[in-house]
Parts: sequence; structure tokens; C-alpha cells
Amino acid sequence: MSARVPIAVLASGRGSNFEAIQSAIDSGFLAARITLVVSDRADAPVLEKAKAKGIPARYVAWPAAEAGESPASRRNRHESAVLAALADDLPRWIVLAGYMRVLGTELLGAFSDPVLGFSRVVNIHPALLPAFPGLESYRRAWEHGCAVAGATVHLVGEGIDDGPICAQEAFSIDGCRSAEEVEKLGLAVEHRLYPRTLSWLLSGRCAVESRRARFCVRQT
Ligand code: GAR
Repeated sequence: MSARVPIAVLASGRGSNFEAIQSAIDSGFLAARITLVVSDRADAPVLEKAKAKGIPARYVAWPAAEAGESPASRRNRHESAVLAALADDLPRWIVLAGYMRVLGTELLGAFSDPVLGFSRVVNIHPALLPAFPGLESYRRAWEHGCAVAGATVHLVGEGIDDGPICAQEAFSIDGCRSAEEVEKLGLAVEHRLYPRTLSWLLSGRCAVESRRARFCVRQT
């Protein structure tokens, strides 16, 4: 069996993607080990879900702004605290699973990978990017009258829901009667797409070319 790649999961809420990733690990599909689950919200259900699975979980508070401090400096202070929490059992990848903050230079710089040509930080977004970045993407696709919605796994850059695309899956929402129905279909897609994409990303068989991050077999 291949070695388990240590990963940390950052999440702000419910944690269904965390559960899908952990199930893929438990079933042997994904050769990974979650070192720590970090949340920026003290009441995020994902923290209890992780602890119930015996996985270390930590709340790292968003710091109060200091007088005259820039948003970037505040973000970096938060990310320094996250990095300190990760230091005991250093992960190779950061996996964002419903983490509702834009990342800054502190975290992205710490996981920058010259061979990959990007940072080892990955996210799942509930839309076919570049459509509907930001919040409530399934709802906005529904309200816009889209015939399809989808999910995107991408490497994380400094923009909002931006970075080289690893994988996308579209699904028809023609038969849906509410935004809630769209989200239900979307989450089922996410829970398949994320573990599947992580399996080749974590294996190191990934190359970034322009806006694409794709499976590749690297010559060693
Ligand atoms: C998921 O739909 C995920 O794609 C989305 O938040 C939800 C988290 O659900 N992420 C984003 O919108 C990131 N921009 P979960 O907590 O049940 O995994």
C-alpha cells in the first residue's frame, strides 16, 4: 500500500466534504491521513465531527483588528496562528473544505511548491468556475435560471475562488424546483469529485500548465 500523505483540512461549517474525504480514507480509496482539522468558527459542526472520528481539531480565532492595521496584515496574523497549529504534525497539503476565507501570502507561501509550480493548497467550489465565485453559488445558479450547475476543484491562488482548475463536473438542474434541491445534487457531486481528484493530486502526479492542473506521470 502506498504511503499515506498527511493533509490538513480547513473548514468553516457543516463539514460534509470533510466527512466524504475521511470516508474515502477509511475505505482505503484515498492514501491520506488528516493531521488536523482547523476552523475559523468556534461553533463549526466540522470540529465535533472530526473529534468524533478521533481526528485532532482546533478552532483558530480570527484576530481582532489592531489600530490602523491592513486587512492583509490581519489575514497574515491569522494564518501565522494556523501555521503554528499545524506545526506539530506538518501536513503536505492544505485541503479547503467549505473554508469561507480568502487565503493570503502567509499560508500560500508556506506551502509553495517549486516542482508543482504552485502552492499545495486545494479547494472545492460549488460552481463551474469562473462562473459564480464567492458565496451561495448553487443558489445564484438556480436564481440565474441556469440549466446546469457544477463543482470545481482548483489549486488556490490569492484571488477569490481562483487558481488552476484540477477537475470540474456539471449536472443538470432543469428538473430542480428549488435552490435547496440544486445544493443537494451538488453536494453529492462534490463528495465524489473531491476524493477522486485528491487521489491523483496527493500522489504527486500533477502538473500545472497555465490555468490547468492536470494528472501527469512525472519521469523520475
Ligand atoms: C460546499 O458546497 C463547498 O463547495 C462550499 O461550501 C460548502 C461546504 O459544505 N465552498 C465554498 O463555497 C468555497 N468558496 P460542507 O461544510 O458540508 O463541506
